[in-house]
Amino acid sequence: MSKPAHKIADINLAEAGRMVISLAENEMPGLLKMREKYGTSKPLDGARIAGCLHVTKETAVLIETLLVLGAKVQWCSSNIFSTQDHVAAELVKCGIPIYAWKGETDEEFVWCMQQTLVFQDGQALNMILDDGCNLTQLVYHKYPQYLSGIIGITEETSSGEIILTKMFNARELKTPCINVNSSAVKAKFEKIYGCRESVIDGIRRATDVMLAGKVVVVSGFGDVGKGCASAFKMFGSRVIITEVDPINALQASMEGYEVTTLIEACKEGQVFVTATGGRKILTSNHFLNMREDAIVCNMGHFRHEIDCDWLNENATTDRIKAGVSRYTLSNGRHILFLGAGSPVNLACASGCPSFVMSNVFAAQVLAQIELFNNKAKYSIGVHSLPKKRDEEVAFSHLEKLGIKLTHLTVEQAEYLGIPQNGPYKPNHYRY
Ligand SMILES: NC(=O)c1ccc[n+]([C@@H]2O[C@H](COP(=O)([O-])OP(=O)(O)OC[C@H]3O[C@@H](n4cnc5c(N)ncnc54)[C@H](O)[C@@H]3O)[C@@H](O)[C@H]2O)c1
Repeated sequence: MSKPAHKIADINLAEAGRMVISLAENEMPGLLKMREKYGTSKPLDGARIAGCLHVTKETAVLIETLLVLGAKVQWCSSNIFSTQDHVAAELVKCGIPIYAWKGETDEEFVWCMQQTLVFQDGQALNMILDDGCNLTQLVYHKYPQYLSGIIGITEETSSGEIILTKMFNARELKTPCINVNSSAVKAKFEKIYGCRESVIDGIRRATDVMLAGKVVVVSGFGDVGKGCASAFKMFGSRVIITEVDPINALQASMEGYEVTTLIEACKEGQVFVTATGGRKILTSNHFLNMREDAIVCNMGHFRHEIDCDWLNENATTDRIKAGVSRYTLSNGRHILFLGAGSPVNLACASGCPSFVMSNVFAAQVLAQIELFNNKAKYSIGVHSLPKKRDEEVAFSHLEKLGIKLTHLTVEQAEYLGIPQNGPYKPNHYRY
């Protein structure tokens, strides 16, 4: 298959890209620790990783870490709006095959993924690092000839985990997978603390609107929803939660949030954020019942949490600026729609902060190492990162924050019935 060596927006942006990658590196001690620990033994030597994950400065540090560990990589973005073009330019300048630019069409998005399948030397991928299962599904549905050569898949996010699990239950899955999403350093850090900071960033950069005093409706009180809700609360917003799960609904209530249905919340809400991982959460009935100039955005992985098609077909739109459109509904009221339904923290800001992404991406690195080096250990199925690896990731971030860890004595460890150096918790522990 002949193909271009790369495709990005503008190679001249490279210098600015290196500057932000260097700054991100300072905030990503986990990935630097992986380089220090495994850079000599090169456990990914021979791995040909096709990566599909937002091309941001943090992903650049991940990519360069995978290279230090011996892998070859080709990369595309997991979202049409999330590529940082200066970062993509610098990676290409360093000889890395990147196929991504901000503002791809849906067709270009698929084309970019296709370019990651076969390397310049004619060899096909043997590992996938995915975010939302798009690349995995492309291989399974359109390029099954490559499946037998794929040693493992590591998946980044909840929405991808749902798809992999469905594939496994339908007996379609043919590859061992590690669902990085289930590791504590992802679920309890990136989603809660990362989304807590970046959801505000996205909405503020897009609208400049003051959040204090506003009524903010968050749909879904999972880890992402919890992070978002706490951010708005800290900013002085009044937060309403919508949930389908009684446990999460009760949790939200006990955190002090009002919990009601979306249609009820529409009467009061001024900002709406979806974070369910589901589809068609906000639909026509809700739009038509919202207050004037309600702000609508999504934090879930896929745009389909909000019925964007209905808006496009039934309302007229004015583009305020990149990532911000004002729709006029048939009832005369307006909706400010952010990021065209893509995760607002990525589409309208720079995603989760580097430090928290260091946790997730260090887990990705260890998941790739696990699958690539332990073929016999992982059956076909969706696995979690071993607890010891989760703790290894957390440990690699302690020094940067000046954290002093207490060590278990032999006596204490024996009493608790756990190894003195971990793992400290059983797999079912929820943190
Ligand atoms: N933007 C980001 O930076 C970012 C980061 C991580 C994950 N994500 C994405 O965010 C989404 C949510 O992730 P999560 O890990 O919090 O998932 P989760 O499963 O922990 O939480 C989702 C919650 O939504 C609830 N829910 C489902 N359908 C609902 C409905 N119709 N109405 C109200 N509530 C409903 C569920 O009961 C659940 O509690 C996923 O798509 C994930 O991929 C985004």
